[in-house]
Amino acid sequence: MPSSLDLPRKSAPVRDFPSQVRTFDHVWKIEEDQLTPMRTDDASLGSAALNVNKIDRELFDFARDVRDGFSAPLKFIPSRWLYDERGSSLFSQITRLPEYYPTERELEIFSTHASSMAKALLGSNWKVVELGAGDGRKTEILLRSWQRSEVQFSYVPVDVSPSALEELCKRINTGCPGVRARPRVGENLSVLRELSDARIRGEKICVLFMGSSIGNCAWEDVENFLSELRATLLPGDLALIGFDLIKDSKRLIQAYDDSQGVTRDFNLNLLRRMNRELGANFDLDQFRHEASWNPGLSGMESWLVSLRDQMVDIRALNTSFKFRRWEPIRTEISLKFSPEVIDDLACANGFAPLARYEDRAGDFTDAIWEATDAFWM
Ligand SMILES: C[S@@+](CC[C@H](N)C(=O)[O-])C[C@H]1O[C@@H](n2cnc3c(N)ncnc32)[C@H](O)[C@@H]1O
Repeated sequence: MPSSLDLPRKSAPVRDFPSQVRTFDHVWKIEEDQLTPMRTDDASLGSAALNVNKIDRELFDFARDVRDGFSAPLKFIPSRWLYDERGSSLFSQITRLPEYYPTERELEIFSTHASSMAKALLGSNWKVVELGAGDGRKTEILLRSWQRSEVQFSYVPVDVSPSALEELCKRINTGCPGVRARPRVGENLSVLRELSDARIRGEKICVLFMGSSIGNCAWEDVENFLSELRATLLPGDLALIGFDLIKDSKRLIQAYDDSQGVTRDFNLNLLRRMNRELGANFDLDQFRHEASWNPGLSGMESWLVSLRDQMVDIRALNTSFKFRRWEPIRTEISLKFSPEVIDDLACANGFAPLARYEDRAGDFTDAIWEATDAFWM
C-alpha cells in the first residue's frame, strides 16, 4: 500500500521499497539490547507509519553495529553501512575512476565470455539472483548476452540500498528489453533464503555475486558466507562469483585512495550518515581517509583516522565515544585472492568449480561453481 514516503514511482516498476527518508526521530534507543522507542508519540510519522517498523529495524541494526564496533579494542563499522543513497552514488562514481580497475576488468570478462558462461545455464529454467547488485552496469552486459543465447531466466537483484536498486532497474528495464528486474531490498542471504524456499518446481537458482564483494569481510566470514550460501541452495544450482586477484600493493593503494578524492568522500560519508540517522555529532574535518595493504590478511583495509583527541556523542545510543589522536576506525576490508584459494573455497563449502574466466591483464576473475550433492551442514 503506498505511503507518502514511498519512493516516487518512475518509469521502472520499482515496488515496495521502504522509504529512504530516515530521521533520528524515528530511531529506537538500544539499552542492554532492549528496544525502547525514543518517542512515544507516533503522530509525527503521519502516513509513514506503514513503513516505520521496517525503517526502525534498519536503524536499530545500524545503531547496534555502531555500538558494538565502537566498543571493540580496534574500532570498526561493517562496510554495508557505507551504502546510503549518497554512498551508493559515490560508489558508482568510484567504479568509473581510472585507478579503480575491478569494474573495467569484470566488464571485459563479461564482454568476452558471457556467451560461453551461458552454456552452463542452457536447458533449465533459472531464477538469477544477484546479491549486493549495485547499479547493474556489468549485469546489463551479462544478461543481454544470456538473452541472446536463449537462456531461460527471471532476474531478482538484491541490495540493502534502495537507491542503487532503483538505478539498476532503470538500466535493466531499458537496456535488456524482455528482462523484468524484480528488485528486493534487504540483506543478501535472508532474501536469497526466501527466494529459494519459494522456487517453483524444476526452477534452478543462479546466484551472481560480483565486484569481489565476497572479499568485503574477514576470512572466517567468507567461509561462513559460503557455507550459508550453499545451505540455501540445492544441488545443481550455480553461483557466479567475482574475485579480485592478489597484485602489486602500490596499485591496490591507488585503487582505494584515488587522486580525485572520491573514495575519501565515500568513506567520510559514513560519519555523515551517523550524524543524520543516529544523531551523532562527528566533525568530518577531524577524520582522515586512509587505505592500507595488509599482507598478513591478503587484503586492503580502509580507515577513518581521528586527527585529534575527541569525544563524539551518539544520541541514538545515549552515549559518547572517545577517539584518540591517530586512532583508526576500520570501515572496509577488501580481500585479494589467488586462484588456488578460490578453488579451495569452492570445494570446502560444497561447490564444484566448473569454470573460471580472467581478464587479459590477469587482475580479476569470475568463477562459476555448482552446488554439489556431497554437502552436510
Ligand atoms: C562493492 S558494491 C558492489 C556492487 C556491484 N555488485 C558491483 O559489482 O559493482 C557492494 C554492494 O552490496 C550492497 N550490500 C552491502 N552489504 C550488503 C548486504 N549485507 N546485503 C545486501 N546488499 C549489500 C551495497 O549496497 C552495494 O550496492
